[in-house]
Amino acid sequence: MVKKAIIPAAGYGTRGLPITKVLPKEMFPVGLKPAIHYVVEEAIESGIEQILMIVSKKKNMIVDYFDESLELETFLERENKHHLIDILPVPSIPIHYIRQPYAKGLGDAIRLGKYFIGDEPFAVLLPDDILLSNKEPALKQLVNQYNKFKKSIIGIKEVEESKLKHYGVISGEAKGEELFKLDDIVEKPSKNAPSNYAVIGRYVFSPAILSLLDKQQPSVGEELQLTDAIKDLLSQEECFGKVVEGKRFDIGIYEEYLNLVNTIQQAKNKKK
Ligand code: G1P
Repeated sequence: MVKKAIIPAAGYGTRGLPITKVLPKEMFPVGLKPAIHYVVEEAIESGIEQILMIVSKKKNMIVDYFDESLELETFLERENKHHLIDILPVPSIPIHYIRQPYAKGLGDAIRLGKYFIGDEPFAVLLPDDILLSNKEPALKQLVNQYNKFKKSIIGIKEVEESKLKHYGVISGEAKGEELFKLDDIVEKPSKNAPSNYAVIGRYVFSPAILSLLDKQQPSVGEELQLTDAIKDLLSQEECFGKVVEGKRFDIGIYEEYLNLVNTIQQAKNKKK
């Protein structure tokens, strides 16, 4: 069973400057909820029972958002606005936090979760990527596959050739049902990408990845890359890539963020 998830939310969000100087991109509003609320909901709907969020100095707003606010609740009670207390975001599962003191990359952030994870399989959700599925939550689709094969499984999507340089890109052998047995993975290939399938920020890992993260040296962007540890994992264990059903929005790209906001609004209008 995959019960624990890590959500790394420590980055500077440089693609979103200047607003991200004070407002973490994870807190960008999508409807009246911040983007990260959707990611936490996806984790809970996928069966996750505990989350570890990796934050940094400027991300206290995220911690406050998911915390109780006795003052606000008392006020709403006094004003007889009980229905508003019900929509306050206190998640039904524990969220733990670790601060990443230096921006050393995604690989370093996940590594900080070592003691939280212990010796269990675990999920990683990158909060830049918001996935809207009509069927099952994106992470649940990966968890279902993990339960079948008991092997690490990485969410992928086909993207245009020109965009591959922004992502981890896999290569592997097609196994049917939109599944690939991975033989390679490259972080942000500037040319000769091994396929058109990009990693989309949803993963289920066997705990073996954690000791491999410890051994990594900085690479692309002078950062410790999760992708390099996955590459090492491939030489030890079978890993799979699964094409995830659903629409994906990278909120680090402003146009995609706007598109997400519009999509959520249109869905709300339809319900009315
Ligand atoms: C990270 C990963 C990359 C993945 C991407 C998905 O990159 O390193 O492999 O494809 O997330 O969003 P980042 O966007 O943090 O540079």
